[in-house]
Amino acid sequence: MQHALPLAPLTSRRSGPLKGRVRVPGDKSISVRSLIFGALTVGETRIEGMLEGEDAISSANAMRALGATLERTSEQAWRIRGVGVSGFAEPRAPLDFGNSGTGCRLAMGAVAGCPITAVFDGDASLRTRPMRRILDPLAKMGAETTEIGDGGRLPATLRGAVDPIPIVYEVPVPSAQIKSAVLLAGLAAPGTTTVIEKEATRDHTERLLRLFGAEVAVEPHGNDGRRITLTGQPELAPAHVRVPADPSSAAFPLVAALIVPGSDLVLEGVMTNPLRGGLLTTLMDMGAGIEVLDRRHEGGEDVADLRVRGSELSAVDVPAARAPTMIDEYPILAVAAAFAEGTTRMRGLKELRVKESDRLAATAALLTRNGVALEIEGDDLIVHGKGRVRGGGLVETHMDHRIAMSALVLGLASDEPVKADDAAFIATSFPGFVELMRSLGGDLA
Ligand code: S3P
Repeated sequence: MQHALPLAPLTSRRSGPLKGRVRVPGDKSISVRSLIFGALTVGETRIEGMLEGEDAISSANAMRALGATLERTSEQAWRIRGVGVSGFAEPRAPLDFGNSGTGCRLAMGAVAGCPITAVFDGDASLRTRPMRRILDPLAKMGAETTEIGDGGRLPATLRGAVDPIPIVYEVPVPSAQIKSAVLLAGLAAPGTTTVIEKEATRDHTERLLRLFGAEVAVEPHGNDGRRITLTGQPELAPAHVRVPADPSSAAFPLVAALIVPGSDLVLEGVMTNPLRGGLLTTLMDMGAGIEVLDRRHEGGEDVADLRVRGSELSAVDVPAARAPTMIDEYPILAVAAAFAEGTTRMRGLKELRVKESDRLAATAALLTRNGVALEIEGDDLIVHGKGRVRGGGLVETHMDHRIAMSALVLGLASDEPVKADDAAFIATSFPGFVELMRSLGGDLA
């Protein structure tokens, strides 16, 4: 997959120890949700520490097009005047969510509960991603998809329900985006909307809806699942959201510090929500030198500072049940596995095939190009780590920020430089990544 603009290639080279104290940008999931929930609230919501990456900005633009007023008051601080639940105005033009699956899918849920019609669109990457998984449950709630691309892809036209119907919905795949879309449509429905998930996924929607004054009950379901019940038609109250640092972004400097010998760095204020914690658990099982310091509570989430030191890693077997808690971290975990000694098996990665790229294939190609031996068996990725990596490869990033950052981290510790064909998409989730890595001592040019 290729975008229309010229590519922005970038190369990373073996670097000396990475040192320093940094804070990565605000969490993408919480930033996007805060914008959408603020737009559904009457009154003034304030967001601090917002991710000012393209994924959040495209959601902000969509909320404006739907009638909310949004203003950037200072760096990473935003003010939103919302229109209330079901209060969206019909947008005059298609809503362009760029690269952001989260923004697009959550906004579909919010629009589904409004008596308006909106066209949803995105870039070439987002246009390859499945949308029926969202639109099918929304249809049960009364929202009609009147037009959609082949295979259930964008662009799609959604006519929201005049009288939304509350439902009980069991999510067929572990996906916080599907869960969130149903709950957001449920805000506009009378009575209770229930979502059942067999495996618990990130719970930022549940936490933030409560912060905005909605009634949300969460009960355990089966071994690993949850049953989430929302009381419809609440009067959402404006909130003050402080967005913690994104653990999925912190993952890149964190793994870089582990694989570059002698590194010692501190990542400040990283969210430690257990439903996002799979990478930390796995790296610690691999013998990573990570200390979790100054645990505290900020803006409804647990956060901590992470001290990370260069470490000798050993291979692990990562169970499929852990996937929902680290779904975005497999590309960078695969990089760590390549520098570990032994064979790491990451199980149950089916959902990786429908991310910003086919991440299972893109991660495998990233490593193979750089001399790492691996196999894909069914939905498992098996990486044969040798403690060192040859490098020297050109990595195709497929409009995928996490593939680009994983490739560049690999190059900081491999024998030969690693080139990413396009670093432009890093700005969707981690603006300032290159500068931050350079400030730590990373050689990226
Ligand atoms: C997200 C959920 C995940 C994740 C994405 C952000 C969210 O997607 O991959 O980056 O904020 O809800 P799925 O819900 O499709 O697994």
